[in-house]
Amino acid sequence: EKGGYDYFMLKEIAEQPKAVADTLLGRIDASGLLTLDEVRIPASVLREVDKVVIVACGTAYHAGMIAKLAIEHWTRIPCETELASEFRYRDPILDQRTLVIAISQSGETMDTLMALRHAREQGARVLAVCNTNGSTIPRESDAVLYTHAGPEVAVASTKAFLTQLVACYLVALYLGQVRGTKWGDEIRAVIRELSDIAAAVDTVLETMEPVRALARSLADKDTVLFLGRHVGYPVALEGALKLKELAYMHAEGFAAGELKHGPIALIEKDLPVVVVVPSPRGRSVLHDKIVSNIQEIRARGARTIVIAEEGDEAVVPYADHLIRIPATPTLLQPLVATVPLQVFACELATARGNEVDQPRNLAKSVTVE
Ligand code: F6R
Repeated sequence: EKGGYDYFMLKEIAEQPKAVADTLLGRIDASGLLTLDEVRIPASVLREVDKVVIVACGTAYHAGMIAKLAIEHWTRIPCETELASEFRYRDPILDQRTLVIAISQSGETMDTLMALRHAREQGARVLAVCNTNGSTIPRESDAVLYTHAGPEVAVASTKAFLTQLVACYLVALYLGQVRGTKWGDEIRAVIRELSDIAAAVDTVLETMEPVRALARSLADKDTVLFLGRHVGYPVALEGALKLKELAYMHAEGFAAGELKHGPIALIEKDLPVVVVVPSPRGRSVLHDKIVSNIQEIRARGARTIVIAEEGDEAVVPYADHLIRIPATPTLLQPLVATVPLQVFACELATARGNEVDQPRNLAKSVTVE
């Protein structure tokens, strides 16, 4: 049941630290390296892989966009992420050396299923990342890595998304481990960082009251825009998707670098714009560029809602509302940056009198193409 929460969505948001920790459980051996016994694709086959293609829909697709960045960065294997519903209609180039990763919470999404069937017909190996034991997508795949989010009841996906990310990071590291593109110590270091994330998500959850108050104050707005770069771009798309689904508001996510190529024309006085700021460490060039984006939109009167790492002082002068998240390694930031956006959408939906767990026109699993 709802365990004392008003909605399943609130319960599932709160369960995220545990879901993240559970998805790591039993997958790390005594030496701190990965043992993914479930990935029954032989190491010899994984060593021959020359391309990874990720297919998924909706929120799972956003996880796939982030996975692409991790896979390419850690393994140097070219990787593309594609909407499952588009995939087979463009005659994609696939063969025995292609690894297809199908991400699906329900394991029943017809678009994703059709994409993986097409991939297997072309000889590609398919690895499912799935939250539902024994569902169709893992049954039809060569192997499956289950996410351990537990049952997700609310239509809007929350804890499944975070665990999809964790599972994808594990796949990326495992590929690096098997192929020797990542050294043992590097793998151990990332695994330690991943193991710290559950506590960081907990910290975020404890500081959400101002985000709720902010959401309530925006209940009569028509539009909210979301900006991000690198891993923050899919996070922006996910924030916008949650808001559409739950609050029935016009919400759009943009890659912040695209702002000047069009979307900046939308910026007007009092328009709420959420900006996901990359870590000032690591990819600091991107950080500085996004700070200038925030300045630009604020100069045009937008109300800036800035999600930035603890200790990032550069954003302070330009943030009308500042949402702090714990410092994390660049690639792992989505695990903490997405959480405030889930809370934001859930609270806005409530403030607008919408049905949080059962948004209009949506079903939990979409079993038609
Ligand atoms: C968003 C949402 C949908 C699903 C999409 C894929 O909150 O719930 O966008 O993410 O329909 O579903 P699965 O992961 O079950 O394949």
